Amino acid sequence: MKNLLITGGAGFIGSNFVRYVLNRYPDYRTIVFDKLTYAGNLDNLRDVEKHPRYAFIRGDICDASAVERAVREHNIDTIVNFAAETHVDRSIMDADAFIKTDIYGTYVLLEAAKKFGLRYHQVGTDEVYGWVEQGRSIEEDRLLPRSPYAASKAGADLLIHAYVITHRVAATMTRGANNIGPYQYPEKVVPLFVTNAIDNKPLPLYGDGKQVRDYQFVLDHCEAIDLVLHRGKIGEFYNVGTGQETENIVMARMILKMLGKPESLIQPVADRPGHDRRYALDVTKLRALGWEPAHNFEEALQKTVQWYVENEWWWRKLKSGEYLEYYKKQYVERK
Ligand code: NAD
Ligand code: TYD
Repeated sequence: MKNLLITGGAGFIGSNFVRYVLNRYPDYRTIVFDKLTYAGNLDNLRDVEKHPRYAFIRGDICDASAVERAVREHNIDTIVNFAAETHVDRSIMDADAFIKTDIYGTYVLLEAAKKFGLRYHQVGTDEVYGWVEQGRSIEEDRLLPRSPYAASKAGADLLIHAYVITHRVAATMTRGANNIGPYQYPEKVVPLFVTNAIDNKPLPLYGDGKQVRDYQFVLDHCEAIDLVLHRGKIGEFYNVGTGQETENIVMARMILKMLGKPESLIQPVADRPGHDRRYALDVTKLRALGWEPAHNFEEALQKTVQWYVENEWWWRKLKSGEYLEYYKKQYVERK
């Protein structure tokens, strides 16, 4: 492995992964291939812009000729795919782009992997298992997605499984729990709550706030992806999470406490349709490869809150234009 095509590398997790790889592997080149949707942002990569082992290509993973050109021009041997439409609430409003990018786009990348004999890694999500009422999801569990986002990601998972078997594509896949950390677009709950709280604005908490998520620090997730990329078994899926469960109401209170803001900022709003009340992963398989998360939830949240406090330059300008239109549709007109 030397020349990595990091699709979706201008987004939250992808940009953290680029920085991680450049620091960790002195002989790797990272080529970011990203459409720059509302969620893609070159500010996320500003500090590596001039790095000699970094390049950026603006392109759509649904465009096969653009993908092939990138592979040829940069002598790519590995694709790590982060590119996706990622926000559940947007997928409820309009799923069109989710089906296109998350399913068709993955198909295009798999075709390129097949044609050029590339190593392929897919960054997947725990949401494909659906609401886990009891116990923990293992990799062999049935996929029961309940949102259009989760369904489109599950479609990609199945395509990867099929390409490994039918076409012998050398693919692996991780299914990660919710990430938090630097450079997360402020539509996702943690950066939304942190930035609203900084501005003394309400924190819109869906339903009773007792939904459970496993919020993990983004760099722990990047390490797990790296591990599976290098040591994972071809054709295998690996869950990635801390195993720690936190209710949204608890997370909201902790953010307010860390920022010294009153709990009265929490504003209960109508629940999300089809809201998954709990995700919970069994991460035994990944731990067997030698992975342990370096942060527990509180440490991850503390670092995240601190980063948003110190980096207003990054998020303040995002909360304008398209974001405000989305915010109005999602929250102000919410019944
Ligand atoms: P993000 O929304 O921050 O970034 C997505 C990136 O993909 C953006 O840079 C966007 O411009 C790019 N993109 C979208 N459509 C594209 C297309 N057609 N062609 C090329 N680029 C395109 O997402 P994220 O939170 O960084 O998530 C990255 C990956 O990790 C996704 O596949 C997501 O499903 C998965 N994941 C995310 C989480 C999480 O908590 N954020 C958890 C588990 C898995
Ligand atoms: P989100 O960050 O959208 O991630 P996902 O739904 O993909 O897990 O939401 C995380 C949790 O926070 C989820 O249970 C929904 C809840 N939530 C709110 O209560 N209010 C909000 O404004 C948002 C965006 C999410």
